[in-house]
Amino acid sequence: MCLLLRFMTFSRSDWDAKHSAAATEAAEAPAGILSELWPLLPAGAALDLACGRGRNALFLAEHGRHVTAVDWSAVAFDIVEERAQAMNIPVRRVHRIGEAKHAAPAGIDLVQADLERVQLPANSYLLVLCVRYLQRSLFPQICRALRPGGMLLLETYTKAQLDFSGGPRDPEHLLDKGELRRTFPEFETVFYRELRAGQGIASLAARKPTAASNHHK
Ligand SMILES: C[S@@+](CC[C@H](N)C(=O)[O-])C[C@H]1O[C@@H](n2cnc3c(N)ncnc32)[C@H](O)[C@@H]1O
Repeated sequence: MCLLLRFMTFSRSDWDAKHSAAATEAAEAPAGILSELWPLLPAGAALDLACGRGRNALFLAEHGRHVTAVDWSAVAFDIVEERAQAMNIPVRRVHRIGEAKHAAPAGIDLVQADLERVQLPANSYLLVLCVRYLQRSLFPQICRALRPGGMLLLETYTKAQLDFSGGPRDPEHLLDKGELRRTFPEFETVFYRELRAGQGIASLAARKPTAASNHHK
C-alpha cells in the first residue's frame, strides 16, 4: 500500500476532483518566487504552464500582463474564470497555445491541453512560469518558447519533500538536489534557492541570453 502511494500519479480526473474540492476556498496567494521577483520580470507576453486555479496567472494579469495559461483541468479553468471575472480581468478560452499576438492586452487566455502532448510556439514569450509541476521533457521546449532576454521562473518540489507531508511522492516528479540550477546552463541565473524547511522546494529565475550578451562572452 505504501509503495503504491509512493508511486501514484494523478490523472486528469483526480486533478479535477482536487480542484473541485478547493473551489470554495479563498484564492491562494501567488507563488513566492513570482511576488518576490516581480520587479525584475520583463514586461510582455507570459506563459503559465500547469496554471491550476490560476493564482500566478491572475497576479500577472492584474499587473498588466497578457498570460496564456495552460492546464488540462476544465474544473480549474471554471475557477480561474470566476476569479478573473470578479477581478475585472479579461479571460477567454482558446484552442491553441500561441493564438495571442505578442502585444496582446492584459488578460488571460486559457488553453486546456495535456502538457505531455503540447507543442509550444518558439520565440513567443518574455516570461515562462512553471510552478509545482515537473515535466522534464518540457524543458527544451520552454527554452525555445522564450524570446531572447526573456525570463524563466520555475519552482517545484525536490526529493527533500519526501521528509515532509504533502506534495508528490513519485521521484519522477521530484527534483534532485541542485538539479534545477544545472538544467539551463546557457541561461543567466538571476535567482536560485533550495529550501528544506517545512517543505523541500527549489526555485529558479534565469534569463535567456540575447544575441548581444552572447557576443560579449
Ligand atoms: C500542484 S498544481 C500547480 C498549479 C499552479 N501552477 C500553482 O502553482 O498553483 C499542478 C497542476 O498541474 C496540472 N497537470 C497535471 N498534469 C498535467 C498534464 N499532463 N497536462 C496539463 N496539466 C497537468 C493539474 O491539473 C494541476 O492544476
